[in-house]
Amino acid sequence: MCRIFAAALAEGPVGPVLKAGLKRLEYGGYDSSGMAAVDQGKLQIKKGVGKLDEVDKSVKFDELPGCIGIAHNRWATHGYPSVTNAHPQVDCTGKIAVVHNGVIENFFEIKERLAENGHEFKSRTDTEVIAHLIEDYIKKGMDFLNGTINAMKDLRGSYALAILYSAEPNTVILVKNESPLMLGISDEGNYAASDAVAFVDHTNRIIHLEDGELAVITPKSYKIYRISDGESVNHEIETVDISVSDVDKGGYRHYMLKEIMEQPVAISYALNLQAQYLDVVSELVRRSRITYLIGAGSSYHSCMAGSYMLSQISGMPTIPAVASEFIQQFGKTLNPDSTTILASQSGETADVLKVASYARLKASTVISITNVVSSTITRLSRAYIVQQAGPEIGVAATKTYTTQLLVYYQLAVELARKSGSITEANSYMKGLHELPRLAEKVLEDVSEPVNRLAAELKDANHIFFLGRGINTATAYEGRLKMLEISYIPSSAFSAGESKHGPIALIENNSPVIFVAPDDTSRKVIMGNIMEIKARGGKAIVFGDENDSELKQASDEFIGMPQIDEMLSPIIYILPLQLLAYNTAILKGYDPDKPRNLAKSVTVL
Ligand code: AGP
Ligand code: GLU
Repeated sequence: MCRIFAAALAEGPVGPVLKAGLKRLEYGGYDSSGMAAVDQGKLQIKKGVGKLDEVDKSVKFDELPGCIGIAHNRWATHGYPSVTNAHPQVDCTGKIAVVHNGVIENFFEIKERLAENGHEFKSRTDTEVIAHLIEDYIKKGMDFLNGTINAMKDLRGSYALAILYSAEPNTVILVKNESPLMLGISDEGNYAASDAVAFVDHTNRIIHLEDGELAVITPKSYKIYRISDGESVNHEIETVDISVSDVDKGGYRHYMLKEIMEQPVAISYALNLQAQYLDVVSELVRRSRITYLIGAGSSYHSCMAGSYMLSQISGMPTIPAVASEFIQQFGKTLNPDSTTILASQSGETADVLKVASYARLKASTVISITNVVSSTITRLSRAYIVQQAGPEIGVAATKTYTTQLLVYYQLAVELARKSGSITEANSYMKGLHELPRLAEKVLEDVSEPVNRLAAELKDANHIFFLGRGINTATAYEGRLKMLEISYIPSSAFSAGESKHGPIALIENNSPVIFVAPDDTSRKVIMGNIMEIKARGGKAIVFGDENDSELKQASDEFIGMPQIDEMLSPIIYILPLQLLAYNTAILKGYDPDKPRNLAKSVTVL
């Protein structure tokens, strides 16, 4: 979704600072980029359609003068990507500029009312009404602060806002409601952003704003107010540990490749989950009558695999569900005896947050698994576990997927230990501790065959991904990786389902990727491979390196190390991530910024 950034500096120009911060936030959206600054009592605005670098070539963001500015990367929800719809959006007088992340639900009503009062609207965005609404209150005699507070009381929906008013040129106003926003505090100036990576070069001192709060920053001061009663509030400054090198590409061509290759390290971090959190979470789950595992996209796939881990290791049945469908499908079954586990690497996915709020209303125990400590989901949860994968910038989830699987695995082992179904967890833990080394070996060994495969597949019209048991999730995830960055239409099924319909699509040479480790499904998946081959399909099989029978049956075989069934999804997804990456590169696409997508989807 859109990301916003604001800076109030003791010394300008603000342009280069805003540009560097916005670049770090590009993962959130790149339909358009724009900035505004106040210089000599006047608003200066630069904006354009496309990624920051493209827009920069024509508008030259560095030349934005002044010390106070706001900036925006857009992921459009209201109004197509165009210069007019790009943020900042301004009022009729051209004195108020707004950047926004979120959706104003009642924008149409407000727009009609303001239009009747003579306001002229230029864009199709919901954001523009905010600028006009503040203008309306200022016209009635209010100052910038009170005008904004009153305007906010009229808005319904989600919004992180940064606002400039050229008549009060030393100030930026920030507002938060249901979209992420934090302040960065330093002696050289104050900042605000959707994500701290925007200002990490300047400060690591952060204040998290709460929903319904407004902050006023100047180069030398900051003040926070509660919108409902206008009272000022105090929050502690937190010192966070995000280093600049953590968010750089570390020598790789793309963030996605860096993040794939980082997995051995990320996995070893995720093996050191804080024991007390695991203890609390497993205790809550153990007492629950029914447990749902909920997520979107890749996080949903980790819930699918997690459900197998929980039933097979700890004997606990759970129901995996897609976040956007959950309330309709299962909402009525939530009660104080239920637990909802929400997996969201960003902790900001709107579909997931909606489930969290709903589950809280029903007194269900809300638990989350996330990669971002300061994310909204952690605030809505009774307990949460942090995946510890480090920042993930590429839009495609890679290391956050494998580390979510690890959280589920460790939760399953802890539950099994608590319920006495395993007397000692050592054998399970041993497998875990071998994972980083195994992941490193796989990433090295498969690189060459996967490259070759990518060259073969790049012109395919369609690719199938099939797996069984816990690796049904791997097939789904491999398929999502492939289609979201290479744009090749792909389908995934549990291999047993293929004969119930999908097999009708198989023609001569149709590529079918099988995830077939040496596990309890191995025998039956062989039958599925034969079915596909009998219809002319091409069986590309990822299987155990010692499985000569499977090797013989395959058209192409990529050998993988022996691995415990419940841990196999963590290792078997690695070559599929690399395959998707290489295919996208061969097709000339930027895998870090796939079209129409955003890193975290903060609208419903
Ligand atoms: C994964 O590659 C996708 N970009 C997407 O499906 C993602 O997993 C989904 O939007 C959920 O995000 P979250 O984990 O931050 O909630
Ligand atoms: N609703 C705003 C727009 O379409 C912001 C969208 C967002 O945050 O993704 O411009």
